[in-house]
Amino acid sequence: MQENQEKFIEKVKEKNKNKKLKYSILTMGCQLNENDSEKIAGMLTKMGYSEIDDYKKADLVVFNTCCVRENAEERLFGKLGEIKKIKESKNLILAIGGCMMQEKNMLEKIKKSYPFVNVIFGTHTMQNLPEDIYNAIVKNEKVKDVIDIDGEIYEGLPIKRNSKYRASVTIMYGCNNFCSYCIVPYVRGRERSRKPERILEEVEELAKEGYKEITLLGQNVNSYKGNEKIKNFAELLNAVCKIEGIERVNFISPHPKDFTDDVINAIANNSKISRIIHLPLQSGNTKVLNEMNRKYTKEQYLNLAEKIKNKVEGVVLSTDIIVGFPGETDEEFEDTLDVVKKVNFEQIFMFIYSKREGTVAAKREDQVPEEIKHKRFEKLKELYESRVDENNEKYINTIQKLLIEDKSKNNDKMFEGRTQTNKVVIFEPNDTNEIGDIVSVKITEAHKWYLKGEII
Ligand code: 5AD
Ligand code: SF4
Repeated sequence: MQENQEKFIEKVKEKNKNKKLKYSILTMGCQLNENDSEKIAGMLTKMGYSEIDDYKKADLVVFNTCCVRENAEERLFGKLGEIKKIKESKNLILAIGGCMMQEKNMLEKIKKSYPFVNVIFGTHTMQNLPEDIYNAIVKNEKVKDVIDIDGEIYEGLPIKRNSKYRASVTIMYGCNNFCSYCIVPYVRGRERSRKPERILEEVEELAKEGYKEITLLGQNVNSYKGNEKIKNFAELLNAVCKIEGIERVNFISPHPKDFTDDVINAIANNSKISRIIHLPLQSGNTKVLNEMNRKYTKEQYLNLAEKIKNKVEGVVLSTDIIVGFPGETDEEFEDTLDVVKKVNFEQIFMFIYSKREGTVAAKREDQVPEEIKHKRFEKLKELYESRVDENNEKYINTIQKLLIEDKSKNNDKMFEGRTQTNKVVIFEPNDTNEIGDIVSVKITEAHKWYLKGEII
């Protein structure tokens, strides 16, 4: 398999020799897609392409698609309209891959209505991209490389990472949960965990290259299944934290139903692990949660949040919430607001329910009218924003450890970093501070979207 990939990388490279060709990747969707795009970038770089931000100037464009909500689809169709015009005036290869290509209806629509697309690839066939591109540019074929069966885990893809200090490492693929609103299990297949040895090797390699922060990725990281040596997610966390050079460890996304005590203990006992835990709530009402197939009640969620806060010093929580799930009443939505008040999340990713064909919830006739969904969204947003100032002010006069990420975008005399709880802090560096360092700052000012600090 890998040999085949290398063979086609060489063939395309030979074909592209001295042409100075450029690629551009447009990633829609989650961090798993971002991580896939880093692998696509790795393959394209080896094939002799170099990166350009403006896809209008590229010779090869890849759209890595998402289908979790309808607006991601609308965005793709907008971009396809734009690129059609560009394609009429220049020679350009267009490849579309990712989750949306695993949906039969979408695949048919792209094939029928957008015949200028050169390569279509799915989530299980990304590793074939060099061969697909070769067939498109050399044989001038229209390539469709999508399979329905869960792909084997393909190790060893080249990778070109977006940052020098923070890296994502996918630990598992797919999802078995079938939350009734969610399309992911249909397009990403069943859960498949990478071997712990492969994961640890990757993290060790990253540490050697100078990476300081690692984010372990999966649709449901805490149902990770290892082997005799490293059995589960808690043991994997402990092992990753032992790797020298890695100073910070994050993970997304866990599922509340699998948040066992050993995972909480691993977090409490390892100061390298982020002090912001993402705990997707989705709804605060037990009946809605049941219909969502989430497998926990309002009370169980509140107890878990409490337990994490009691056991892990300095921890804050973030969450995902969907408003307007089919059948949700005003009273049921009030339960979501109640949980938001009680848990006091530091960050909330809010979504308006989006009907996804093929899921259980899409078949329901009691869909909530758009207008009501939007009203609930605004109400939730207001509640969340009313808490932001108070939550930020709590940081004033505290000492925070930051990983310096960059110069501040608005003032190049200032540096920007993030706390263990993912808060952006702007500060004036001293002569020895460099990007990638971990430093301590005292927080002096709280603003809505960032804090200000002084180096100590
Ligand atoms: N509509 C709205 N939001 C959704 N999510 C998943 N499916 C849908 C949907 N059909 C949200 C969930 C999930 C996040 C990644 O996207 O909150 O946690
Ligand atoms: Fe979708 Fe639920 Fe799986 Fe998350 S856990 S990917 S929301 S089905």
